[in-house]
Amino acid sequence: MTMTNALGLAALLTLAAFPVFGADLATTTFRDHVDSEGNISLPADARDSWVHLGSWVVDDADAPGAGFHDVYTQPGAAQAYRDTGEFADGTVLIKEIRGIESAEMTTGPALWAGEPQVWFVMVKDTQERFDGPHWGNGWGWALFKADAPDVNVSESFENTCKGCHVPAQQTDWVFVEGYPTLE
Ligand code: HEC
Repeated sequence: MTMTNALGLAALLTLAAFPVFGADLATTTFRDHVDSEGNISLPADARDSWVHLGSWVVDDADAPGAGFHDVYTQPGAAQAYRDTGEFADGTVLIKEIRGIESAEMTTGPALWAGEPQVWFVMVKDTQERFDGPHWGNGWGWALFKADAPDVNVSESFENTCKGCHVPAQQTDWVFVEGYPTLE
């Protein structure tokens, strides 16, 4: 066996030892979605390859959260939550907000999601890796808009996110009642 083959085999065996979560999830998240200074980026492939946790609809154009809200996470993060009842290190939650389309369909008065407007992102950090303004209460918090998805436009966790998430404090700041995939 060549050295390369031996290393490849060792890597495969390591992966097999962590099939769905654990070291693997955190390694991937803090390599691909968070840089060494704690800057969070918007994962690009959530709708293609992550799991859908659930949806909310705020059908009032004047409400602060008007729109269709679809929430996604990595498959391994959902499995870890179902196994342990807790969000594992490296879990990423994405809430995509899209506009509301509506029409009379053969099913009835239907509402569906239009173009993406913003993405809210939370990144679970159980190791307290970062302490900047976008990190607090065990999570990193970020907000991206459709016209500039590379820029986190959240001012800070305290100023932009915390107040609204207080009602979910008992469930690790996540509104888990909306996510049947976690049950
Ligand atoms: C106007 C109140 C409000 C603000 C501001 C807010 N959130 Fe939320 N967030 C909610 C509510 C309520 C839900 C679940 C229900 C819904 O989406 O209507 C939610 C859901 C989420 C979700 C899906 C997972 C979960 O917690 O249920 C993420 C991710 C999220 N928010 C991140 C953020 C981040 C990051 C910020 C700051 C940049 C932020 N939120 C600011 C109220 C808010």
